Amino acid sequence: MLSKSIETALNKQVRIEAESSQIYLAMAIWAEVKGLEGISSFMYSQSDEEREHMLKLVKFINERGGQAHISELNAPNVKHKSYKEMFEKLLEHEIFVSESINELVHISLQEKDYATHNFLQWYVAEQIEEEAMARTILDKVKMIGDDKGGLYLFDRDIQQMTITSAAETPE
Ligand SMILES: [Fe+2]
Ligand SMILES: [Fe+2]
Repeated sequence: MLSKSIETALNKQVRIEAESSQIYLAMAIWAEVKGLEGISSFMYSQSDEEREHMLKLVKFINERGGQAHISELNAPNVKHKSYKEMFEKLLEHEIFVSESINELVHISLQEKDYATHNFLQWYVAEQIEEEAMARTILDKVKMIGDDKGGLYLFDRDIQQMTITSAAETPE
């Protein structure tokens, strides 16, 4: 059974995952209308993944005798100066999510809620992966700079990355 404070903290994370999904959806749209198809499909699949993260939390909260709460979401920022700036925001956002997960882990230990603590380990591992991926991508983006040919290849390669990561996602 979840305590009220754990339930509230988990529901806060439900909102963060939902907002993450919306942020990446907005990024997918930004890239799509610019003709950056690979980046766009990468962002669409990131958006789907964040929705999965949200659903996993929803199910857990309900299963443990709580009730998931679907709240109003902040509208994502839809303006990006460049695709580089967009990927910088993606990394920043993932770091923010990691901090939020860490805080949740901290609360679960404080309350001696080991079931929730155990459940959260999946998110801890996921955040390590997502941050690493965002850093790898950003390094590539910085290397490309203003090279149009480089952007063309990057847009093609990131599509491949989407396919591999989708295949590797354990559900
Ligand atoms: Fe997430
Ligand atoms: Fe994420």
